[in-house]
Amino acid sequence: MSAISITQPDDWHLHLREGPMMESVLRDTAQRFARAIVMPNLKPSVVSVAHATDYHAKIKAALPSGMAFEPLMTLFLTDLTTVEEIEKASKSSIVHALKYYPAGATTNSDNGVTDFKHVYAVLDVMQKQGIPLLMHGEVTDSDIDIFDREAVFIERHLIPIIQKFPELKIVLEHITTCDAAEFVAQAPANVAATITPHHLLLNRNAIFAGGLNPHHYCLPILKREKHRNALTVAATSGDPKFFLGTDSAPHDRKSKETACGCAGIYSAHAAIELYAEAFDNAGALDRLEAFASFYGADFYGLPRNQGTVTLEKKSWEVPKEFQYQHGSVVPFRAGETVSWRISGTTQ
Ligand code: NCD
Ligand code: ZN
Repeated sequence: MSAISITQPDDWHLHLREGPMMESVLRDTAQRFARAIVMPNLKPSVVSVAHATDYHAKIKAALPSGMAFEPLMTLFLTDLTTVEEIEKASKSSIVHALKYYPAGATTNSDNGVTDFKHVYAVLDVMQKQGIPLLMHGEVTDSDIDIFDREAVFIERHLIPIIQKFPELKIVLEHITTCDAAEFVAQAPANVAATITPHHLLLNRNAIFAGGLNPHHYCLPILKREKHRNALTVAATSGDPKFFLGTDSAPHDRKSKETACGCAGIYSAHAAIELYAEAFDNAGALDRLEAFASFYGADFYGLPRNQGTVTLEKKSWEVPKEFQYQHGSVVPFRAGETVSWRISGTTQ
């Protein structure tokens, strides 16, 4: 197959940032996706419906004219999140989920949850109201090897949470291991997972190929080839529990190329094209549409999109960096090629 038309996709895990950075990255996402679940790890984090409403308005205002794109907002779950705020979220038409970060797990997550016990009352209301909990599934314990933190999270936290809240809708975000893929595949239908393009296309060697590559540092960190293979099998399996979430996470070049660099890979500039490449490599292009455009919407209880995106197998070179008002962002595959490109869209 050298061309494929699919229903317009959605990105179920995206970091848009704010201010000049947001204004410059938004177009890349809006050119490809009809909607995206927008992560709340700003500074300060988006903990209230009022803040989410304000952020939503800023994103809409920053959209290039004539571009249709709907940001689906999330709230950052903290030890102090109240049941009242969850009730407000369930009545709001713009907030679609709560995001759980273990305190200190990743970028801007210092006020994440320190102990699940602090949020039991909140999870109970979310379960009743059908609001999904999006989980950054890694433990933060310094004595746990960074490559094992996802598997340990499943045993220590995810299994007990599912037992305690069996009806709670849960998305295990950006899964990176065969342990997570196997766990989600056998879990009940209310437990799903997103998979990023970089975890489908890279293994951990990419961090060290020819020297230290900070632009391949993300969290959860890239894993061994056997895990990348397991993710490819999950994404291309046709199982509706696995759907697209880029985790595109732009950082300024200076904060990546420094002694203690930030985690995050920017992929919004080529997101659906990269997934097409991964599915093509696996001989599973016919499974791309459901993964990218159906299963996420179905899980969130939202209508599937009407428009289409046509992709063709023609390689193009990714710029070495993108400038924005205060600096630049080095994108995934900078200076290299992507083998699929968008040849047309309909609304
Ligand atoms: C994300 C970021 O930079 O906001 N970084 C990343 O490596 N994925 C945070 C996150 O999702 O962990
Ligand atoms: Zn993320």
